Parts: sequence; C-alpha cells; structure tokens
Amino acid sequence: MLSESGLNEDLKKYVLDIGRMLRDRIVYSLKSIPLRSRKLKEACLHLAGRGKFLRGIFTYLFSKGLGLKDEDAITLALSTELYHLASLIHDDIIDKAPYRRGLPSVHVKFGLETALVAGDLLIIYSNNLLANLGCDVIKIYSEAGIKLADGEALELEDREPTSIEDYYRIIGLKTSSVFEAMFVSAVNIAGRDEYGEDAVLLGRYLGYAFQLSDDLLDFVGDPDRMGKLAGVDKDNANIVHILLKMGYGEADAIKKVKELIRENIMVSIKYLERIELNVKYKDFLKKMIYVLEGRNL
Ligand code: IPE
Ligand code: IPE
Ligand code: MG
Repeated sequence: MLSESGLNEDLKKYVLDIGRMLRDRIVYSLKSIPLRSRKLKEACLHLAGRGKFLRGIFTYLFSKGLGLKDEDAITLALSTELYHLASLIHDDIIDKAPYRRGLPSVHVKFGLETALVAGDLLIIYSNNLLANLGCDVIKIYSEAGIKLADGEALELEDREPTSIEDYYRIIGLKTSSVFEAMFVSAVNIAGRDEYGEDAVLLGRYLGYAFQLSDDLLDFVGDPDRMGKLAGVDKDNANIVHILLKMGYGEADAIKKVKELIRENIMVSIKYLERIELNVKYKDFLKKMIYVLEGRNL
C-alpha cells in the first residue's frame, strides 16, 4: 500500500519501521500468552505477523502526537490490531473467505471451532492489554465491539442496503467503530477529553474512507496483491454494488466511490486539524490519510 503511495522516502521508511515494530511486538506478546493448547496458539499467531498494521500505525502516530509515552502508544496500537485481527478471523468465517493476508484463513487452516476460540481469545487478550491503560479505554473498546458486532449482524440481515445512507449506517458500525475507539482512547489517556468529539469524528470519517477504498479494491482489485479473494463479501453490502443497483453505470459507480473517498478524507482531515497535536506527527498523519485516496493494496 505504501510502495506507490507518493509518500517521501523518509516518511515511508519511518511508517514501515513502525509497522515492523508493531508486528514484532504482536508476535512476541501472543507467544507469551500462557496457553496449553499449541493449536490455539498457532491459530492466534497464524495471521498476526502479516497485514498492513494501518490501524496500529495511525494509533501510534496519533498517540505520540498527543505526547503519550512510547510504551502506552505501543500498547494501544497492539490492542487495536489484535482486536481488528479477531474481527477478521470471525468475518472470514461469516464470509466463508478462503484467504486472508495471503494465507489460508484461520478457519480453513485450523477448523471452524478453533478459529472461533482464537478470535474470542484475541478480543479478551486485547482487553487484557488495554487494562494497563485504565478502565476507560476498556469501556471505549467494548462499546466499539458492540457496534462492530451490530454492524456485522446488520450486514447479514436480508434487507439490502439500497442507499448510500444505509451503507454508511453499516460501515459506521462495523468499520468506523474501531477507528473511533483508537483515537478516543488516545485522547482519554492523554487527559485531553476536550478533543473527544473531534477524535470520534476523525475516526468515523477515516473509517468510512477506509471501508470505501476496501470495497472499491474488492470490486476492481487484484486478489494476489490484496492477499484475499475479491468479491467474497456479501455483494449487497459493497458500495459499488449498491450504486449499480441504484442505477449507476459501472464507470460512474467507480467514479462516485472515488469522490466519496475523497470527501471522507477531507472531512477526517478537518477534524484532525482541530486536535492539538505535535506538528510533526500531525503532518505524518495527514500524509498517511491521503495515501487512502490512491490506495491500490
Ligand atoms: C480489512 O482491513 C477489513 C476492513 C475493515 C476493510 P485491512 O485492509 O486493514 O486488513 P489488514 O489488517 O491489512 O489485513
Ligand atoms: C471486515 O469487513 C470486517 C469488519 C470490518 C469488522 P469486510 O468483510 O468488509 O472486509 P474484508 O473484505 O473481508 O477484508
Ligand atoms: Mg469480509
């Protein structure tokens, strides 16, 4: 995702280094969970060393910008990534998706039962890490988890989303909820609750932009580069399909999705601007947000 992003070389290297550091910490901390079941440990670790770590990178940069201690910024980023990984393992069961992060998905490799337990364990372990940051953040993430479950369930229900509003309702729950939680938690830990609302809205619109770009890739993307099969999500929940059903031609639907991505990027940057952050990190975050616009991975 970053390779053709237009980020300057120094920033690209810095961001990739953060991703690698998070990856190593995730793998290390999962290995240290006292588990008797080797299979469960392997199932948790299976996809943990891969992925883009985008949520973790955003969490880390934002937390550092607020002046959080390195260790707290890392803990929050790790918890976010583990929470997200759990949702992917469960989502792949729901979508019957055979691949994830360039590997067979967890339920394909370890079986449905172990995949369910591994996803549960990752949520619980994420909470265990969050406990080091205080009760408030556990509450924030558990509220995000309620929304995420609600969004996944809504997507499964028969009533098809037939409008852009319906679509935003679902992705606000299933995707933006985690983006909101990570930014709100960081302002909470930093004792800057006056930015709580701005942090929610930054997360909400960034989450929208991210899911829109994921849907577009799902429609036009190359499975080899994405590391997952395209078109396995329930078609009715993909924005391109919704627009096609609304009467858009294919080219216009794609153009419209690109416009929506840009709109949401601009709104998320507006809220980012309102939050007082170290300028260096704010600048990194802005550049990272713009990467979503030309995203091809
Ligand atoms: C995929 O998220 C799920 C969505 C919400 C669209 P990512 O594309 O961030 O997945 P990884 O973490 O890089 O594998
Ligand atoms: C992933 O959503 C799971 C959540 C957002 C909770 P999607 O089904 O849209 O993403 P992919 O395409 O499987 O990665
Ligand atoms: Mg899916």
